[in-house]
Amino acid sequence: MKLKLLTIIGLLGILPACMSTAPQLGPDASAWSNYLSWYKVTPEATTGDPTGFLGSVHDGIRAYRQIYVNTVGEAVNRGTQEMPYPAGTILLKESFNNAAALAERRNPDLTIMVKLAAGQSPATGDWEYVMGADGARRGSGDSGLGAFCRNCHLFAAATDYNFINSAFYERNR
Ligand code: HEC
Repeated sequence: MKLKLLTIIGLLGILPACMSTAPQLGPDASAWSNYLSWYKVTPEATTGDPTGFLGSVHDGIRAYRQIYVNTVGEAVNRGTQEMPYPAGTILLKESFNNAAALAERRNPDLTIMVKLAAGQSPATGDWEYVMGADGARRGSGDSGLGAFCRNCHLFAAATDYNFINSAFYERNR
């Protein structure tokens, strides 16, 4: 059992590159080009595995990660508006390989979640999962990439598939 789990966790690190993607449903990449001006969910970068669900994805436990939310989803993220997130919400995460890369803002990997209109992708909780700043790799519906991201974010289904929101950050810092 333990070996099986380790194998699965190991595979998670390599698989996304070769997974089937889905046609674009959410907005073009220009929708997040100004993300550095958005509300920063993590005033200080997080590292390690605060949720216990990370495995080796998002560049692993040694990476430094910062999360941003656009104005559409900000009130829900900050707890002043009820879940679920409204359509048009964008959650964006930068992952830096290490502290030095963070300090220099060197080559962050971007992973992005876009809330679609209700019913557009029930299999992924109506989130479109995106890899990369250019938005070229999209996962929704029953595509391999959509299932890959969804199967883990499912552990955060109670908070609309969002692991780290403002309240979580405050509780765990
Ligand atoms: C094995 C589990 C796992 C998989 C697979 C996974 N994530 Fe995550 N994701 C997490 C965890 C845990 C966090 C919380 C951030 C942290 O620990 O740094 C997170 C955070 C995020 C966030 C910031 C919002 C939030 O929920 O905190 C985005 C955006 C995100 N992931 C996108 C993706 C995308 C896109 C994919 C697929 C390419 C993906 N994730 C696959 C576990 C996973």
